[in-house]
Amino acid sequence: MTGTALTDFTKRLDKTAEDTEALLSTLLSDTVLADEIARPKRLVDAMRYSSLNGGKRLRPFLVVESAAVFSVPREAALLAGAALECIHCYSLIHDDLPAMDNSDLRRGRPTLHKAYDDATAILAGDALLTIAFDIITRDEIHREPAVRLALTRALARASGVGGMAGGQMLDLAGEGRFGDRGPVDVARVQQMKTGALLRFGCIAGAILGQATQAEYKALDDFGRALGEAFQIADDLLDVEGDAATLGKPAGADAELGKTTFVTQLGIEGAKQRVRDLLARGDAALSIFGARADVLRAAAHFVAERKN
Ligand code: IPE
Ligand code: IPE
Ligand code: MG
Ligand code: MG
Ligand code: MG
Repeated sequence: MTGTALTDFTKRLDKTAEDTEALLSTLLSDTVLADEIARPKRLVDAMRYSSLNGGKRLRPFLVVESAAVFSVPREAALLAGAALECIHCYSLIHDDLPAMDNSDLRRGRPTLHKAYDDATAILAGDALLTIAFDIITRDEIHREPAVRLALTRALARASGVGGMAGGQMLDLAGEGRFGDRGPVDVARVQQMKTGALLRFGCIAGAILGQATQAEYKALDDFGRALGEAFQIADDLLDVEGDAATLGKPAGADAELGKTTFVTQLGIEGAKQRVRDLLARGDAALSIFGARADVLRAAAHFVAERKN
């Protein structure tokens, strides 16, 4: 990206991050909703600790920008993006637990289980996962219940056994902690543990915008390429970055014996794979012409980011 293009892109990303932060702050307040009984302060505080004040908010950004391709109202897209971010934040809380990656630092602060305790971290994750589905089904998301249903089902499938949670299982198996790890299908692990939520961010716009099949497929292909590129970039940063910039520990994957494209292809091989994925992502968006320029820039941002 050129200097000006990067500044414009960064401004746009920052604006969505700011709007997402404000929305999450309202959604994760101590206000008790109809059919709820009470919101325990410690749990609300823990959810807020892990969801506010940080994060690139890339997933909400993808929802907002894929929705913008179809001129979907921004408010609806932001709400869907906030639901997705709740799932992402829950996945990070559980990913950092001692039983998983055992990490002490997240977004430049002590991880939730360090600042609170393991039980609170497990429950904050549970509650963030659940509230995501409260949010994604709200009337303001779309006037047609069938669209809300399709979006909700897509989010469930991206998050669960066949998506993120399943991928986390394969990721841990790839460390060899459940016995002989055998050959690890790194592309599959990454598609699931990370790719699925990012891909959801991209297809969410197509669902909200009631896209044609060809348009849906274009965003689906783009989301898959971006998702894989994102995790390879994360694995490269784990090797080449430092904790101060990353806001999370560096060198953690090697310490845990994770299998990644960096261990399988080497640093240069992994970087080449990211370049190939970017080209694939760009090509997928061709049917949208200039309407998808921001999404194209997002893929490049993902590959070039420093944290
Ligand atoms: C980190 O995701 C976890 C992975 C899926 C690799 P991000 O790099 O998007 O984390 P935040 O939300 O900006 O902290
Ligand atoms: C995280 O992958 C994927 C999910 C949280 C679902 P990593 O374990 O590589 O993420 P970081 O490096 O801790 O952010
Ligand atoms: Mg992990
Ligand atoms: Mg981790
Ligand atoms: Mg990582």
